[in-house]
Amino acid sequence: MTASNHTFVVDQKHLEQCTTLDLPPVSADQLADGEALLTIDHFAFTANNITYAALGERFKYWDFFPAEAPWGQIPVWGFADVTASRQPDIKPGTRIYGYLPMANQLVVKPGKVSNSSFVDTSEHRQHLALAYNQYLFTQADPAYRPEHEALQMLLRPLLITSFLLDDFLASKDFFGADQIILTSASSKTALGLAFMLAHQRKSRGKPMKITALTSAGNVAFVEGLGYYDQVVSYEAIDQLDPGQNTVSVDFAGNGEVLGALHRHFGERMCFSSLVGAAHWDQRGAGKNLPGAKPEVFFAPGYWETRGKELGNAALMQRFAELWSPLVKSVESWMKITTLEGPEAMRQAYLDTLQGKIEPDQGLILKP
Ligand SMILES: NC(=O)c1ccc[n+]([C@@H]2O[C@H](COP(=O)([O-])OP(=O)(O)OC[C@H]3O[C@@H](n4cnc5c(N)ncnc54)[C@H](OP(=O)(O)O)[C@@H]3O)[C@@H](O)[C@H]2O)c1
Repeated sequence: MTASNHTFVVDQKHLEQCTTLDLPPVSADQLADGEALLTIDHFAFTANNITYAALGERFKYWDFFPAEAPWGQIPVWGFADVTASRQPDIKPGTRIYGYLPMANQLVVKPGKVSNSSFVDTSEHRQHLALAYNQYLFTQADPAYRPEHEALQMLLRPLLITSFLLDDFLASKDFFGADQIILTSASSKTALGLAFMLAHQRKSRGKPMKITALTSAGNVAFVEGLGYYDQVVSYEAIDQLDPGQNTVSVDFAGNGEVLGALHRHFGERMCFSSLVGAAHWDQRGAGKNLPGAKPEVFFAPGYWETRGKELGNAALMQRFAELWSPLVKSVESWMKITTLEGPEAMRQAYLDTLQGKIEPDQGLILKP
């Protein structure tokens, strides 16, 4: 039995307020019929998790792991072990990968159990996207490598979004653009997309320019990656060539930056995708901007649509082909740091919230 159940929570309306609740651990005899107890081993933490909190109410991220008001539990991607089970198809000792709270334990109600996964069918999760409710058994996942758990937690949820964006833009023939601009270009999701665009440029026969927009302090890091053709800081938007037909993919969610981009390119802004809010405290999509109207991209929704069109297996196969070379490249520069315990969890959260984590860092937390 786990000796503690530290549960990290943040104030849903004031994200800088946070605390760790020391809840009584759940024991095997407290499980109801059909339930299983997961003991959480470790998980990744990036700006994406801050966005879950910043958009928690609008996109229902607070609903996955409910907490008493004013608190909310931020979902994370990680690994856990089944340590007790009253669901006959789920055996103790099974290791899983999926969506977890920042805590020591999680009680789930496994349903739709297959050889490769189960779905948490708990009542409070029924209205939420399947992509988040499904847990994969590591022993049945052909892509799983124990030594690559950190990279899987850090990159897989983000690079799937990069992949879906790449697929979406290609399916629209890049809206006829000459260049694609990625904001928060130093983020893992953005650089994943840049890599995929560059990697397939030759085979697609599209000589489109890939431009990075990032903070002045991250320009050197982004240049060093070699995934982008051009790297520009937010302050230098006016130096971009305004004559280029442009697609913007916005991971920063910074109203001022997006407004400046639209005004700079005017009617040459052919498509404008809103993906992230890494600059969560300067949010704003901008209203009445010149050029194409900004459109929200919700990855789980696009996955469901595209999965129906192409088949999930075909989609996964395409993802696997891009995943391997990209992970090989990321492995060569990413510095993975593992921190343990409630205080480390709190500090890592605050540092990420305040944008203090260097973009070459991969943060893994053990509760
Ligand atoms: N729609 C979807 O389905 C979906 C899926 C995956 C990710 N996303 C979004 O994509 C964004 C990037 O996520 P990630 O996990 O890839 O990020 P990450 O790797 O943790 O990105 C770190 C970068 O984000 C920017 N940043 C982070 N915190 C900041 C702060 N407090 N103030 C200013 N800049 C900050 C900085 O980039 P710059 O200096 O380059 O701006 C920083 O280098 C998130 O908003 C995430 O939610 C959306």
